[in-house]
This record gives sequence, structure tokens and C-alpha cells, in this order.
Amino acid sequence: MFRPRRLRKSPVIRNLVRETQLSVNDIIYPLFIEEKPGIKKEIASMPGIFRFSLDKISEELDELIELGIHSVVLFAIPLEKDAIGSEAMNESGIIPEAIRFIKKNYPQLYVISDICFCEYTDHGHCGIIHDNDVDNDATLTNLNKQVLAHAKAGVDMVAPSGMMDGTVATLREALDTNGFSQIPIMGYSVKYASAYYGPFRDAADSAPTFGDRRTYQMDPANRTEAIREATLDVEEGADIIMVKPALAYLDIIRDLKNTFDVPIAAYNVSGEYAMIKAAGEKGWIDEERVIMETLTSIKRAGADIIITYHAKEAAKLLKKG
Ligand code: PBG
Ligand code: ZN
Repeated sequence: MFRPRRLRKSPVIRNLVRETQLSVNDIIYPLFIEEKPGIKKEIASMPGIFRFSLDKISEELDELIELGIHSVVLFAIPLEKDAIGSEAMNESGIIPEAIRFIKKNYPQLYVISDICFCEYTDHGHCGIIHDNDVDNDATLTNLNKQVLAHAKAGVDMVAPSGMMDGTVATLREALDTNGFSQIPIMGYSVKYASAYYGPFRDAADSAPTFGDRRTYQMDPANRTEAIREATLDVEEGADIIMVKPALAYLDIIRDLKNTFDVPIAAYNVSGEYAMIKAAGEKGWIDEERVIMETLTSIKRAGADIIITYHAKEAAKLLKKG
């Protein structure tokens, strides 16, 4: 008779048969970079996560290196916002400056930049507004300018998050024709219009001032559409495709893993982080175990790469073993 408990008898045998291994090598840590100097400010709804200005960020980067976290994705809090998000295209804007600073002082870090406009527009939408909605193709033109500003600054990889149709094709073309064919694109291919982004919008000051993002982000009820979106990105040249958020969409992560032969990333978003931190603070859950179980579930679902605010906590727990 098959007795499943035989293989659960001790830690050694459980380790031998474990199917999913979480590693610090799979993890990307998001950083919020504020242009205004002198800033180290904790985000109220994301305990343990701070906005840093470049003059204060070294302590954070030193800690990442120490913990073995070698990939970061950069988000901006620029000083100036306007209707078209001009600062996003400024070659000496905060993100190009941050890329140059990190690549110079921490060459061992792999720097990924967010490619989108919501952090830079005064209305908080992910592109240029015409007739009360984001104009897809006008936004693509500006995304090209943003991506080249980051590429010239030395970014390692770019991650367009705005859900404009045709983004990956246009960015690939812009990069290739300007001598940056070596920079990979991680597409936010399957990004849902989710309430789980709430704390991020506090962190990045990027909440839309009117309407919502449902004309460009996906309907949470849709599953086959995820395959269509991801197919487009792969055909357009995405090197990595992403599902976002992660936890309410583990089925989608698995669908993509089973359908495509490119690496799959999952974004364990701000609201997912905030819920664990809140319950942990109240003592309602064993926070450390919940963090590891959660990240493991994302890998088990099929993610090769996890973008998570728990990166530092997870790295410490993995070291402890
Ligand atoms: C914006 C963007 C968002 C996140 C990353 N890039 C939020 C949004 O669409 O409003 C969310 C990340 C998170 O919640 O952690 N392009
Ligand atoms: Zn955006």
C-alpha cells in the first residue's frame, strides 16, 4: 500500500522530496526613489518599505547586497508632474540619475526600470489623456522617449507596466534602432485592474485623479484574455512575461507557464504585502511562515521570478534556513 507519510518522516526526507525551492536568486525588490533630497520616509500602508532619495539610498542598497538580493526595479517620485508626464522623458530625470548612481556605485546590482507615466502625470493616468481616456498611440511615442532615457543611463532591463497595446513592439524597435538590442523587456503582459494596488499608489503618489484604469488594465474576471495578452507580448518580442497581481491570479500564472516557453514573472503587489503586515502586526498570523508559504505558492503556481516587497524578509528567512 502506498503510504504518503513515509516521505514526511523527518526534515531530511522532506527536503529530499520537496518540489518547489524558493531562492533569493528568483527575487526582485521594488525601490521607490524620490527626487526631493533628504528623504527616507516609511510608506504608511507598507510597514518596512520606504521612499528614499539618492543621497539616502546607500544604506538600503548595502543591505540588499549583504542579503544577496541582486535585482531591483525602480519607481519614481519626481518633483514635477504635468499633464503629459514630461519628467518621464527627461534624460537627467530622477530615474536616469538613479540608474547612473546605482550602476556606478553598485555594479553588482541588476537594475530594472518601470516604464510608465502614472508616476509623472498630474492626473495619475498611465499616459496622455484625450477625450477623458488614455490615448494609446500618442502614449507609445512618449514611452519610446522614456525607454531611451533609461537605456542611455545604463539600465539593465526595462519593464513596461502601462498596458498600452503595442508597447513591447514599439519599445523593442526603439531600443534596437538605437543600439540597445541587448536590453531585455519584461512585459507586464497580464495586468489586472486590481484593488490590490492601493498602497502602491500612496507609495508612488500615482492614484488617478479621475476615473480608473479599467480602459487599459484587464478585467479580473477574464482568463482566456490573459493568453491573448501574453501571446501578443511574446510575438512582439517580450523576453519575460508577467502576471500581476500574483495571489488572486495563481491560476493565470499556471496558464502562462503551461502555454509559453519564456520565463514567467509574478508581481506580489503592495496590497498583498499590506494584508500580511497588518495581520502580522495584530498577531493574528505567524507572519514569517505566511510570507514563506505565500512566496512558495507563487513559485509553485509557475512563476520563475517574483517581484516582492518581502524580498529582504525572505532573504533573511532563507539564510536562517
Ligand atoms: C503603474 C504601476 C502600478 C504598480 C506597478 N506599476 C499600479 C497601478 O497600476 O496603479 C502596482 C504595484 C503594487 O501595487 O505593488 N503602472
Ligand atoms: Zn502606470
